[in-house]
Amino acid sequence: MVRGLFPFLGFSAANLPVPNGGSSVRQVSVARNCRLGQPVSGYYARRMQSDSGRSGTAEVVAVLRAAAARDSVLRNPDRFAERLISPWYRWGLRISLVRAGLLWAAEQQAPGLYAYVTARTKYFDRVIVGEIRSGAEQVVILGAGADSRAQRLPELRSVAVYELDHPATAEWKQRRLRAAFGAVPAQVRYVPVDFGNQSLDDVLDAAEVARDRRTIFLWEGVAPYLTHAEVDVTLTAIARFRAGSGVVFDYWDQGAIDEPSRYPGAAEYLRRLAARGEPIRSGLDPKALADHLTAHGLKLVDNAGPRELDEYLTGSGRTSLSFCWMAHARVR
Ligand SMILES: C[S@@+](CC[C@H](N)C(=O)[O-])C[C@H]1O[C@@H](n2cnc3c(N)ncnc32)[C@H](O)[C@@H]1O
Repeated sequence: MVRGLFPFLGFSAANLPVPNGGSSVRQVSVARNCRLGQPVSGYYARRMQSDSGRSGTAEVVAVLRAAAARDSVLRNPDRFAERLISPWYRWGLRISLVRAGLLWAAEQQAPGLYAYVTARTKYFDRVIVGEIRSGAEQVVILGAGADSRAQRLPELRSVAVYELDHPATAEWKQRRLRAAFGAVPAQVRYVPVDFGNQSLDDVLDAAEVARDRRTIFLWEGVAPYLTHAEVDVTLTAIARFRAGSGVVFDYWDQGAIDEPSRYPGAAEYLRRLAARGEPIRSGLDPKALADHLTAHGLKLVDNAGPRELDEYLTGSGRTSLSFCWMAHARVR
């Protein structure tokens, strides 16, 4: 019942058929099966190859942002999320009793996720705005889902934005944008990609993302589902960009994967994700992160753990997930 009400922790069974369309959108075609570089496989490939529909988790986190945007204490800044989610969620969130029921279901399945997602929105917003104000010329969003920053943040209106996502999810997103706003943002290039079959380097080349321009990569809610090797391939691809470019991402503490009993909620969270066929595959050691990034051509700028993330939740009485961290790094 709870799972049917709000299918957290996995792709929704209610993946919708995606109509063709979007011919007027600046969409970058990327040749499939180009394997010159090392393809990013794993999570993406396993989940999406057997799933012709869009990502359900992309909508789930957008629903949480939409709910938290209505929360007078949490105040998630994503006021556009509600316009991008499916009508039944949108209508439900407008009714306080239904909203309370959805959040109750969310807390049963993933305690702390609701608060974590809001801390994440605020943290990522702060980093990306700071990067653009200090000179970043383009933004690359890996696994964009229902990210609304291109509409929401004025700073993103004057820079090139590339949203990379699986074709089905990208189509869904553009359809939702047209329905909500009448058009897609003019400065965004949508890059349909299947990371399971394509290398990130090749995709960025085909989309003509200039490596000599200072770039900020946004990698939100994706890295934990990749293998260690896939995470490193992505970091290496980012490090090929001009010095000063950066990446902001969230990750699991590897300790919570190795010894989940030491982290409140981690064991249950891992179990649920694995049962849904979407296991957490990798984490990073927060204490060794700086060295790890250095080995991949990046310099750690900030590494925020649960305690720091709770500062984004002040007054709510909620705490973030005890095992998730956020990091900001720059190309050296
Ligand atoms: C958990 S969602 C996160 C969405 C967004 N970053 C956010 O935080 O709201 C993961 C994203 O990865 C994308 N994705 C999944 N499989 C993919 C694949 N094979 N190729 C490209 N993108 C994929 C999904 O479409 C989805 O947008």
